Amino acid sequence: MNIDILLGLQWGDEGKGKLVDALSPEYDVIARFQGGPNAGHSLEFNNIKHVLHLIPSGIFHPDKLNIIGNGVVIDPAVFKKEIDELKPFAADLTKRLVVSTRANLILPTHRILDSAYEQHKGNTKIGSTLKGIGPAYTDKTGRSGLRVGDILRSDFMDLYRASTERHLAILKNYSFSFNLNDFEKGWFEGIELLKEFRIVNTEYLVNDLASGGKRILAEGAQGTMLDVDFGSYPYVTSSNTISAGACTGLGISPKRIGDVYGIFKAYCTRVGSGPFPTELTDETGDTLRNTGKEFGATTGRPRRCGWLDLPALKYSIMINGTTQLFMTKADVMSWFKTIKVCTSYKIDGKEVNELPFGNEHVIEPVYTEFRGWQKDISGIRKYNDLPAELTGFIEFIEKYCGVPVTLVSVGPDREETIFRKTGN
Ligand code: GDP
Ligand code: IMO
Ligand code: MG
Repeated sequence: MNIDILLGLQWGDEGKGKLVDALSPEYDVIARFQGGPNAGHSLEFNNIKHVLHLIPSGIFHPDKLNIIGNGVVIDPAVFKKEIDELKPFAADLTKRLVVSTRANLILPTHRILDSAYEQHKGNTKIGSTLKGIGPAYTDKTGRSGLRVGDILRSDFMDLYRASTERHLAILKNYSFSFNLNDFEKGWFEGIELLKEFRIVNTEYLVNDLASGGKRILAEGAQGTMLDVDFGSYPYVTSSNTISAGACTGLGISPKRIGDVYGIFKAYCTRVGSGPFPTELTDETGDTLRNTGKEFGATTGRPRRCGWLDLPALKYSIMINGTTQLFMTKADVMSWFKTIKVCTSYKIDGKEVNELPFGNEHVIEPVYTEFRGWQKDISGIRKYNDLPAELTGFIEFIEKYCGVPVTLVSVGPDREETIFRKTGN
């Protein structure tokens, strides 16, 4: 059986959590393949909003297996907090959640290093979530990381101390004050909790399950424009957020990939620093932020908001081999008289459709305008019941991108979803 992938096509926060949860009934297994607690995946049902950081978004469906793959970086302290919060809502967690032996650990000193590096960068800071992501992936590729499988070794404390000493020596070069003890208590509690879960070589598990006919959905974190190779480097995260990341982050062959669901908002948001050609720093941007509740699910920071950027979306579709598009949050623009979409860029007086290398360019977006639908759409469940202005907007995007929009999300609740592919 092929493995489908669901990932973000913009700068993260496209609504991945909501849609993984909404799609989970169609799958047996949900597997996270990269990122770490920098992610904040929100989902809502029964009038309760849940935010997940490390745990896959299929966890609320009692019959689903959830896997944290080798490509994920795990902070045991965050893991414990999340499990504690989940307990009242999700049963049999130690049976239904499996963690890869090969997933790298975020150490307390990784978090401290993240903050020290960002402080040192001053004006050029990335706007990291300060969860230790960059330093943890640095140790992974530098071949000095600790992995979840290591916590079962009898000499784990020696390994931990050696890593921590190495980090403390680096920190001596930074004028950054911290108290390691503040971080360590929760971290070691998390290590003990992790041991209660199934820690296995998930690459075998995932491949065996797929070969046995189980339907697997791979869940991405962040978004394509934050990918370490193809995003606006260095204003990116430290993992491959793209479909190829599902292969390396779960141990599956590209031949096994089925559908690649690419999620995008009907507008754009970005948290942290870096280029954002269609950013709106005016009242319209404020309206998007307030109506769309665009505040970070992990850090609470206000998200930068702007119009939909089609050259960037098309780029993401290309990189991922996106087979179906899922659009979220059109409901946020329901009362707009006019809606703009960027269809090309003007760089140095020339109109182009390609994203340039580097971040020093002044990019002027070229917009196409659409008439707003000016109707509440949150109660609509059939594609054909959507206002003509909105279906026209969707069809324009499909034509520009060459990929069908098969799902339209019209609100944060799992029920507020239109599955177009099932004929609605
Ligand atoms: P993720 O990181 O991609 O999972 O997205 P986040 O959870 O960080 O941010 C998406 C936000 O939008 C969350 O607060 C969701 O509850 C909310 N959301 C998701 N889809 C929709 C939608 O179609 N309409 C509205 N109004 N909110 C949505
Ligand atoms: P989800 O999965 C939005 C951003 C940060 C910062 C940059 C690097 O919820 O979509 P990092 O902590 O990785 O070193 O930060 O990436 N960022 C996200 N933005 N959604 C996310 O995850 C993000 N994870 C990281 O704001 O600009
Ligand atoms: Mg998020």
